[in-house]
Amino acid sequence: MKILVVGTGAREHVICEALNRDGTELYSIMSNKNPGIARISKFKISNESDIETVKKFALQNNIDIAFIGPESPLEKGIVDVLESSGIACVGPTQQAARIETDKAFMRDLFGNYKIGGSIVYKVFDNFHDASDFIDDFGEELVIKPIGLTGGKGVKIVGEHLKDSKEAKDYVKQIIDTKMSGHAKVVMEEKLVGEEFTLQAFVDGDNLVPMHAVQDHPHAFEGDTGPITGGMGSYSDKDGLLPFLDRNDHDKAVTIMEATIKALKEEVGPYRGILYGQFMLCHDGPRVVEYNARFGDPEAMNVLPLLKSNFVDLCERIVDGTLKNAEFENKATVCKYIVPRGYPESSAAGEILDVNEKKINEEGALVYYAAVNQKEDKIYTSSSRALGILGIGNSIKQAENICENSTGYVKGDVYHRRDIGTSKLLQRRIKHMEELGRK
Ligand code: GLY
Repeated sequence: MKILVVGTGAREHVICEALNRDGTELYSIMSNKNPGIARISKFKISNESDIETVKKFALQNNIDIAFIGPESPLEKGIVDVLESSGIACVGPTQQAARIETDKAFMRDLFGNYKIGGSIVYKVFDNFHDASDFIDDFGEELVIKPIGLTGGKGVKIVGEHLKDSKEAKDYVKQIIDTKMSGHAKVVMEEKLVGEEFTLQAFVDGDNLVPMHAVQDHPHAFEGDTGPITGGMGSYSDKDGLLPFLDRNDHDKAVTIMEATIKALKEEVGPYRGILYGQFMLCHDGPRVVEYNARFGDPEAMNVLPLLKSNFVDLCERIVDGTLKNAEFENKATVCKYIVPRGYPESSAAGEILDVNEKKINEEGALVYYAAVNQKEDKIYTSSSRALGILGIGNSIKQAENICENSTGYVKGDVYHRRDIGTSKLLQRRIKHMEELGRK
């Protein structure tokens, strides 16, 4: 079985590791030379959203299945193009990927199919109506462009935007500049609670969930500083989280199942990985957004624990014969090592010294992200450099392994030491208690 992985980062590195472990002949297309992917695949360096190049490479190498890592090629319709050339894909079609790439479509789907876990929202394509809505709404609002912004477009009034004047200025900017490619804005009620991620394998009809994960989007300790692509994440050995019980977990799964059913009716079957970003609110889980792919860093928390054969799961996703997936009952903590100044003014182009042998001896794993290998040296870029994953019998043990391993990465970098620590977990639990949930 020949599988082509499209994408460059730590998410794609862990996907490649899992496929390689389970016996595929591995190919990859990446935009930089990721040292972790390069050493286990036959690779081509190319823009991963250049669909014609990906198609040519796949056809030349008689690829059986293409696994699409990032959202950008999905938005451009890579799956439609590859499938029409006879190459099966783990990844949704352009229309089905709208669950991530078009926030208005996603919210309307919830409304039209009466899916639980929805929220109050409104979509506008003109500034005056949007401005009136801001004046009338009277509660805290979240403002988002409807398309992809790499996580940087979401702004909360009262947090990132000082008052309704700044909110209106931002709405005007979104509409006038067609931010994210559309002159449209979605405004949503602000959700209060604890966020969690639920990722699932989906074959069009059947959905198999993976362990729940909590990501940490803020750059600095104590959940402060600018929003990033994610500074690290943890999961627990029972697949739940210290603030998330089985009942709320299962409600989130039910929402995701209703979503794939609605997607099938609306635009055809959704095949690939579905990522649900939920807020556990005082009255249960509600959907913050969906992604049409694995999360980054969240892929690192789940794939190394997969006991089922990943190649077999990919075949089942494309054949529509998905049944179940088994995971080890272990906890994980992942911390991203990022360049100094990330995300605003990253120290890019610096040499990074990674002692993988020592990290592995500590019991941790390394997944390379936005770094570039030139000869035997690794250089940082402006984005996240590498994820270190600790695996243990408890979150505490996994955190210790992970934190001890960070000392074996030398360079102009930093990481969040607090991810997965008991202090931060207690804060999450207390927060839910204060909301009356536990
Ligand atoms: N962890 C956030 C994302 O993958 O989009």
